[in-house]
Amino acid sequence: MKVVVLAGGLSMERDVSLSSGSMVANGLMAKGHQVLLVDVYEGVRDSADFTEAFGKHQQEHYDYEVPVIPPDLVAIEMANGNGGALIGPNVLSICQSADVTFLALHGAMGENGQIQATLDLHNITYTGSSYAGSLLAMDKVLSKQLMAAYGVQSPKWSEVNLEVVDITTVYQQIDLPCVIKPVSGGSSIGVSLVRTEMEFIQAVELAKTVEPTVLIEELITGREFSVGILAGEPLPVIEIIPTSGFYDYQNKYQAGRTNEICPAMISSALAERLGAEALKVHQLLRLGGYSRVDFLVTKEGQTYCLEANTLPGMTPTSLLPQEAAVAGIDYPELCDRLVRLSFS
Ligand code: DAL
Ligand code: MG
Repeated sequence: MKVVVLAGGLSMERDVSLSSGSMVANGLMAKGHQVLLVDVYEGVRDSADFTEAFGKHQQEHYDYEVPVIPPDLVAIEMANGNGGALIGPNVLSICQSADVTFLALHGAMGENGQIQATLDLHNITYTGSSYAGSLLAMDKVLSKQLMAAYGVQSPKWSEVNLEVVDITTVYQQIDLPCVIKPVSGGSSIGVSLVRTEMEFIQAVELAKTVEPTVLIEELITGREFSVGILAGEPLPVIEIIPTSGFYDYQNKYQAGRTNEICPAMISSALAERLGAEALKVHQLLRLGGYSRVDFLVTKEGQTYCLEANTLPGMTPTSLLPQEAAVAGIDYPELCDRLVRLSFS
């Protein structure tokens, strides 16, 4: 098939997306697809710039050989105005000339439904979830409200729009310790664990750099797990054990900073429960061919869903490919299945 892989973008997860994109392009080529990798970017760069961009994240984080994508298979396309929130006519015409568009974008531009809606309007087939599911999963407040409505437990929370409420009032109303995060971010960018007033102020300032509305959650202490959903079935559960601190950006993408254990060493009853819960969250958020749902489990066995990711990372340290591998689906096969699922 002719596949366009959209990567890069203008979100704070741009580098992660370039890593996912180059890996996915390589995986699809290994399965015989005709691939064009497109770096959606605002501004004009030359070919040396984009070759460097695609390699940079992998070299810096994993010290890996970067998959070599032949330069004639890479294109840069400018995102158009609106702060780059939408893809422009050039990208759309490239996507229209292919059989399917693989979304390797992460973060707001890519995961919040805007690109999906744009592609829908142009009758372009794409991987992952629809615009509606993307929007519901990307907004953690909407996700939590829906989870609560369907009996899925998530950490207690409040939403604070810092354009409306001042930080002193917020501090008086919360309990410590807590977790502060942007309402619709990814890769833990802007997320902090807060134990003191000083940490609270710093955490709010950090989260605000992503967006003015922040989520304040109770801190749940427990083991962290993730479950991918592929074609309506849960993949094997993976446990995430950072060597220090929590599963933040560094621990997510720096090779060796986190032990990922798959299949997780848990009872089959807990594995089944997490799988069923992940599938329920996937369905209640109306997600498509695949997703990855993240959980905390306390030592008393309480499960808390943190969120669902509609375009989970496909980088060398990402979780979904590791889970798929344990299920006997190697990386190229996973990419191929994600493409095929977009037609179902
Ligand atoms: N937001 C990152 C890419 C993930 O969920 O894997
Ligand atoms: Mg996420």
